[in-house]
Amino acid sequence: MLEKIDKYSVFVDTENKIIHGDSFNVLDELSQYNNKVKCIYIDPPYNNGEKYTHYDDQSSHEDWINNISEILYKLKPLLSDNGSIWISIDDSEVHYLKVAADKIFGREKFVTTIIWQQRTTRENRKVFSNNHEYILVYAANKKLFEKTRNLLPITEEILARYKNPDNDPRGLWQSVSANVQAGHAVASQFYEITSPSGKKHLPPNGRCWVYNESRMLKEIDDKNIWFGTNGNCVPRIKKFLVTAKAGVTPETIWLGKDVGTTKEAKKHILKLFHNMPVFDTPKPERLIQRILDIATNENDLVLDAFLGSGSTLSTAHKMNRKYIGIDIGDHIIDYAVKRLQLVVQGEDGGISKDICWEGGGGFDFYQLVKKHNTVRTQDIKSIAISDRRQ
Ligand SMILES: C[S@@+](CC[C@H](N)C(=O)[O-])C[C@H]1O[C@@H](n2cnc3c(N)ncnc32)[C@H](O)[C@@H]1O
Repeated sequence: MLEKIDKYSVFVDTENKIIHGDSFNVLDELSQYNNKVKCIYIDPPYNNGEKYTHYDDQSSHEDWINNISEILYKLKPLLSDNGSIWISIDDSEVHYLKVAADKIFGREKFVTTIIWQQRTTRENRKVFSNNHEYILVYAANKKLFEKTRNLLPITEEILARYKNPDNDPRGLWQSVSANVQAGHAVASQFYEITSPSGKKHLPPNGRCWVYNESRMLKEIDDKNIWFGTNGNCVPRIKKFLVTAKAGVTPETIWLGKDVGTTKEAKKHILKLFHNMPVFDTPKPERLIQRILDIATNENDLVLDAFLGSGSTLSTAHKMNRKYIGIDIGDHIIDYAVKRLQLVVQGEDGGISKDICWEGGGGFDFYQLVKKHNTVRTQDIKSIAISDRRQ
């Protein structure tokens, strides 16, 4: 049973929940959210052998994979039909986790593996400087997710590619190649184009023009083809900003400069809790923002079953998403709850300035009180997981 603790809650009419307890047990209490969570993000202990100030990350591989599998299994029914689950992990367990998650969610639900550059400086004391982690992405229904996931906003870097060297009244444009691979070409795509300067252009070897000749002549007439400022260069197609897609397709390599690094996240936490021991493994809000931008819209429900310092909830709150966050550690009060209280008051770190966060909203705090049988099934390597629990 979940008991609401008023002294840690920030009252407003909200469905947001921060829950203290073992996710293994807490998730059993959340069946009212079955099929309702749009995005689950988890950042579990990676089993990297470290002993952090706030939690232990040393267990046998068997125990670790069994525990995380049990929790994934309990998270699965919560996902809405167009929902997705994003799992942070590093090099040492990623491959085992992928196999376990494939068995739990189904291989056909696997969407992609994202590489996140969590560190931008070289670690010279190691054999290899480990600069990246992984995020495994699964969708409840891959086709639906593909249709409903969001494009990412066009960045300044992409915008900078649009110019208007010919003062076209239709505004900014960028040029793209007018030739394509000749593999599936038809005869009408091979011809000579005469540029305004009189220079003749044939498609390069193994390539053909993207349009047939009459379409190309019309496009030239409509000033949609660019031959360079001197009217002499290889023809290229003008793509106008006004007709560009509303956003860009997310890529699978996420650089620290775009989504933040562990160092950035720690700096943020230090600023929030300057007189507390630093939380060792926080995620930057910009990383979570990228995930929520792709996987959710305003008012969608987000869940994090390994809350830590509360980065997921802090970001979700600022982005006007609903949320549930769970952590087993007593540090949930001093970090996640305190952090969300600061967010409500208008905390200005992380993504706050970017999105003009001014504060507001609230959340309720719950404690898991029912005595559970916390004995986990430690022998699921025979992967009776799906048989036992479906
Ligand atoms: C890597 S940290 C998460 C960091 C978080 N993403 C952030 O940005 O601060 C993992 C967290 O999972 C919590 N945890 C470990 N096992 C858990 C369990 N069975 N149920 C709930 N929380 C758990 C730990 O207490 C720790 O706070």
